[in-house]
Amino acid sequence: MSNDPIQAHFREAVQRANAQAVDASITKPAEQFFARSHQLQYSYNFSWLSRPIIQYPQDIAAFQEIVSQVKPDLILETGIAHGGSLVLSASLLCLLDVMEGLDPRQSPRKVVGVDIDIRAHNRNALDEHPLRFKMELIEGSSIDPEIIQQVVSHADGVSRVLVSLDSNHTHEHVLAELNAYADLVSFGSYCIVFDTAIEDLPAGSFPNRPWDVGNNPKTAVHEWLKTHPEFEIDRGIDNKLLISVAPDGYLKRIA
Ligand SMILES: C[S@@+](CC[C@H](N)C(=O)[O-])C[C@H]1O[C@@H](n2cnc3c(N)ncnc32)[C@H](O)[C@@H]1O
Repeated sequence: MSNDPIQAHFREAVQRANAQAVDASITKPAEQFFARSHQLQYSYNFSWLSRPIIQYPQDIAAFQEIVSQVKPDLILETGIAHGGSLVLSASLLCLLDVMEGLDPRQSPRKVVGVDIDIRAHNRNALDEHPLRFKMELIEGSSIDPEIIQQVVSHADGVSRVLVSLDSNHTHEHVLAELNAYADLVSFGSYCIVFDTAIEDLPAGSFPNRPWDVGNNPKTAVHEWLKTHPEFEIDRGIDNKLLISVAPDGYLKRIA
């Protein structure tokens, strides 16, 4: 085992995360916080470089760690909304370029975002964003065969691909997205499936939405993993976050 103090720091962090994950005196309040904060629409409180991002800060932190570790050349995202997650990806890709001595404007790294409805005010704001040169926007359903073809074509010849699914949260839709995009994920990279936490909230928490307990991203992940042993849930991430919209949703490609 290495004596490097930073490696030791990370090893200890893993041990602490594993211990806290089985400590009901913190997991129970975390569950209560999540349930109440969801009612209060807490995920709408944040922005990234001035664009609203619909995420919990914990998941944003985990995403940064994944990007830093994987160093993707391409991030594929379904679900753009106001564009905050797209700007997050674009900004991290620029930082990766800078850290590797590359000019972000010359490097081929990019994020491709798909949304069924890119509202004019969001598109205009993204078109004017200084990081627009790192983004490709595709409008259409993420499970439409023509859209899948367009998205997949961006991954042609790209060696490190990260996928993030955050669009329609029904079981059927997420299963179709996993079938369409997860195979693009490179070895050691991730397919992140957001809003798996719907399964853990009280039934009826989304009265105006088609998803609920029993029909959501987590049920899709569990079904899909049965036939995809090349991916596993990275429980280390769940253990350290405790508060997350994506429990069981950080899928790492291991083969
Ligand atoms: C939760 S929001 C995305 C939030 C965004 N990723 C962020 O972090 O700020 C979900 C988005 O998915 C889009 N959406 C819904 N159904 C879709 C579909 N079939 N294909 C692609 N996008 C879809 C919605 O229009 C909405 O903008």
